[in-house]
Amino acid sequence: MTILVVGGGGREHALVWALSRSGDHSLICAPGNPGMAEIAKLFPVKVSDIDGLVDLAGNEKVDLVVVGPEVPLVAGLADELRMKGIPCFGPGKNGAQLEGSKWFAKDIMNYAGVPTARCRVFTDTSSAMKYMGEDAKGFVIKADGLAAGKGVFLPDESDEARSILDSLFGGRFGESGQRVVIEERLQGKEVSVLAICSGTDCVILPPSRDHKRLGDGDSGPNTGGMGAICPPPEIVDGFCEKARKEIILPVLEELASRGIDYRGVLYAGLMITAEGLKVLEFNVRFADPETQAVLPMIENDLADLLDTAARGGSLQGEVPVKDGCCACVVIASGGYPGTYKKGFTITGLDKIEDALVFHAGTAMENGKLVTGGGRVLSVVSMGDTLEDSLDKTYKELDKIDFKGKYYRRDIGRTV
Ligand code: AMP
Ligand code: GLY
Repeated sequence: MTILVVGGGGREHALVWALSRSGDHSLICAPGNPGMAEIAKLFPVKVSDIDGLVDLAGNEKVDLVVVGPEVPLVAGLADELRMKGIPCFGPGKNGAQLEGSKWFAKDIMNYAGVPTARCRVFTDTSSAMKYMGEDAKGFVIKADGLAAGKGVFLPDESDEARSILDSLFGGRFGESGQRVVIEERLQGKEVSVLAICSGTDCVILPPSRDHKRLGDGDSGPNTGGMGAICPPPEIVDGFCEKARKEIILPVLEELASRGIDYRGVLYAGLMITAEGLKVLEFNVRFADPETQAVLPMIENDLADLLDTAARGGSLQGEVPVKDGCCACVVIASGGYPGTYKKGFTITGLDKIEDALVFHAGTAMENGKLVTGGGRVLSVVSMGDTLEDSLDKTYKELDKIDFKGKYYRRDIGRTV
């Protein structure tokens, strides 16, 4: 097959790596990154350029398109491709509303009987404040629409809640923040579940855990994700089957009853609470950086799995998973997720022996690899135990250097 992967981050590099081990396929990417250039042909088409991507898939006679980020899915890329007869792994615009609107996701969960935090939707500060009363710490404030992972707030006190609400309704995220979902704050351990869906069938990939806060000990601002482990230590036998039966399948059935044929990843951010599993959020794409830790763990032919899903084929049974654990640590530019400088030379990649290195914010400048974004590289190693995989990852990571290099030193160790 000729497979087009849309995107240019660490998640997409991991996807291209796994697809490259999955048989003799021709791999192309738009726009890709310097790491992906070693295993795929890159085309400089932006992920927001829907027409450009559809033309590229047609011109290159692509058999399967795998979409990384949510923005083109919410904009309808999968629908446009399917109209042209090109199979796409990624939901259409309607299904992508699960990520594009938190309120839509809540409505689906309520109808499907899927456990989630209680919530209400508001369009002005004073009604929202009245609902929360003095107990800001008991609630979470979420912009309804897409906010590049920055639209969720856990206020410590009422004054903070009020200023968050004012900024959302004042246009901080444009239209995305004009409706605000306020939900009960849940307590427990978080787990990410990635389900490969083909309409009303699905298989569950091994569960993982992201580390969203910038600093050690889960301190500092939220980021796109500073590291991941797969599987988290709390996962017990039967967890995946429970997530499949209690969460993913009911959602797929509810979507189908509304005429939505969901083909792609359904990514459930779950909390293991005292009352059982509850959904924090859905995303309609592979997670980043969890994907970098999950894909090395699976034994399946990924191309075949994604192609079956994209064509609406039958997906049953368990995904065969390797023994042991996988750890991913993200190396970021100093200053991320705030402002940071780019263009620093990256050294040491040639010394890596026992890890995979997936590129995200890298660029080529005069033949040299330099930093080009906030999250620069993901370093990934497998081991017999979680400790083993973390030791290897950190040992290899030490060999990589650039000015301002920053990473968390406690990935997988805060659990
Ligand atoms: P989301 O983007 O919805 O996953 O939210 C980002 C992070 O906010 C999650 O990973 C959780 O750590 C936290 N969060 C979101 N919703 C809740 C909730 N209802 N209760 C507690 N924490 C939450
Ligand atoms: N790991 C969080 C995300 O992909 O949204």
